[in-house]
Amino acid sequence: MGIPQPAFYIFKCEQSSPPGMPRPSCVTNETRDLFQHLAQRLMEKGIIGTVQPVRTGCLNRCQYGPVMLVEPGHVMYAGLTKEKIDRIIDEHIIGGKIVEDFVIEPEAWDDPISPEQMMKMTGAH
Ligand code: FES
Repeated sequence: MGIPQPAFYIFKCEQSSPPGMPRPSCVTNETRDLFQHLAQRLMEKGIIGTVQPVRTGCLNRCQYGPVMLVEPGHVMYAGLTKEKIDRIIDEHIIGGKIVEDFVIEPEAWDDPISPEQMMKMTGAH
């Protein structure tokens, strides 16, 4: 038997911009311990092996931050706090039910465009 692959990957945006930048970013002084909190909760629940938290760069939804993306499922959670992360772990990751209240608004996270479709749109080949 091989090593089981993770059931979930959680991509947490860890982008911070220097103070004074006009563009918002997911990591500020107030939110910089969210990744640590996420990893710690997964450890406490004993599921860190099958749920892989990943620090990632900007996911291009900065104004909705702090954000994280749960895969599989393309579920983008926005406006994160420690309390929200706890509920996402309990209800979505363990319970299997997406926490709709914390999902980014649909206008900001519409259906994906396939690479093939995009190539047609841009005229690339
Ligand atoms: S800084 Fe997090 S999505 Fe851009």
